[in-house]
Amino acid sequence: MKEIFLFLHVVLATFWVGGMLFLSFVVAPYLRRHPEIMGEAFQEVGKRFSLYGTFISLFLLFITGLVNAYLLHGGFRRSIYEKLFIFLIVVGVSLAHDLWAGKKAIDSEYHRRLAKWLGIINLILSLILVYMGVRIRLGY
Ligand code: HEM
Repeated sequence: MKEIFLFLHVVLATFWVGGMLFLSFVVAPYLRRHPEIMGEAFQEVGKRFSLYGTFISLFLLFITGLVNAYLLHGGFRRSIYEKLFIFLIVVGVSLAHDLWAGKKAIDSEYHRRLAKWLGIINLILSLILVYMGVRIRLGY
């Protein structure tokens, strides 16, 4: 049971963080060289990653994270509360990115830049969440 929930948590984390890295380093640079399709492609790719990333993966990361906390560590302690706090910021930034800045980006340069920076902030915070997960694993 323990290994199933940790396995699921790690796979979801790789989809979420890997997805953002792929978008930033592979998809975005390509689309910037093709302005004729950039706007629509960002909307379509963004909508799909919002569904599988923000709404499904983050929700399941929360559930598997809670279960990990109880099955592997007998409940919450400071390092897990700190991770949950950062996680809630990631959820807030994701919703602002997906439901507001990202949507308005198609016809607003200001919102396009905002969406870009919200994405970068979320990538950095999510890498911090991975590091916090490793520290929890090591007993901090
Ligand atoms: C974007 C969100 C998250 C990401 C990317 C993430 C990533 C990770 C990763 C990669 C690990 C494995 C570390 C290892 O085994 O060395 C981990 C472990 C862990 N995570 Fe998360 N996590 C996220 C959200 C959460 C949340 C919301 C909670 C709980 C409230 C949580 C609780 C835990 C716990 C308790 C462990 C330790 C499991 C162990 O002892 O091996 N995580 N996390």
